[in-house]
Amino acid sequence: MRKHIVAGNWKMNKNLQEGIALATEINDLLKAEKPNCEVIIGTPFIHLAKVSEVVDHSLVAVSAENCADKASGAYTGEVSAEMVKSTGAEYVILGHSERREYYHETPAILKEKVHLALANGLKVIFCIGESLAQREAGEQEAVCKAELEGSVFHLTPEQWKNVVIAYEPIWAIGTGKSATPAQAQAVHAFIRGHIAKKSQAVADQVIIQYGGSVNDANAAELFTQPDIDGALVGGASLKAPAFAVIVK
Ligand code: 13P
Repeated sequence: MRKHIVAGNWKMNKNLQEGIALATEINDLLKAEKPNCEVIIGTPFIHLAKVSEVVDHSLVAVSAENCADKASGAYTGEVSAEMVKSTGAEYVILGHSERREYYHETPAILKEKVHLALANGLKVIFCIGESLAQREAGEQEAVCKAELEGSVFHLTPEQWKNVVIAYEPIWAIGTGKSATPAQAQAVHAFIRGHIAKKSQAVADQVIIQYGGSVNDANAAELFTQPDIDGALVGGASLKAPAFAVIVK
C-alpha cells in the first residue's frame, strides 16, 4: 500500500508573519486530529527556517517551492538546494508549470535541480502536466512522457524513493475547474505505466499526487481513485481549515 501525501503549495503568498501564523494554525489542527497521511507545506524561501521551527515534523514536513540549478557561488538572488536543506526543510517542489512557463525552466535545467536536490538530501515533488491546448489536441500523455523523460527518467530506483510525481494539468490550476476523478486517474495510470517500463518496482511504490483546483469539496472523491496518491494543493492550502479537511 502506498501512503498518501497531501502537500500545500503557498506559491507567492503570505508575508513572513502571516506565513508563521498559517503554519502554526495548520500544525494545531493536525495535532488535534492526527493525519493518516503524510502532510507537507510548501512555502516561499523566506518562510522556511521559521516555519520549520514552529511545526512538529512528525506531523508536517516543510518544502521549498524551488531551488537553484547551481550548487553555490556567484548566482545573485539564487537559493541552493543545500541552503534549503539547512533550514530544516525536507522537500522541494520542482518543475511547477508556473516555473516552466514564467521562468523558462527547461527539462535540462530541471534535471540539474533534481540532481542537486537529491544530492543534498532533499526529497523532490516533481510536477508535470499539459496545457489546455495540449489537452484539446489529445497530447496529455505525450507531454507527461516528455517531461518525465527530460528530467527524472534516468534516476536509479534508490533515487526514486525520494521522488514524488505531481500531475498538474495546467488548465485545472487556479481555475476552479479540477480534472474529474476519471480524467486524473487515466493520466495517473498512464504515468505509472510509463514508469513501469523502466522498473515495475519503482512504478508500484512511486507516489503520484494530483494538483489543480483541489479543495475540501472534491478531494475525497479524487482520492478514491487507485492511482491518485494524494494532492498538491494551491489556493485551498492558504486556509488552514480547508487544508485540514483535505488531509482528513
Ligand atoms: P490550485 O489548487 O490553486 O489550483 O493550484 C494547484 C497548484 O498549482 C499546486 O501546485
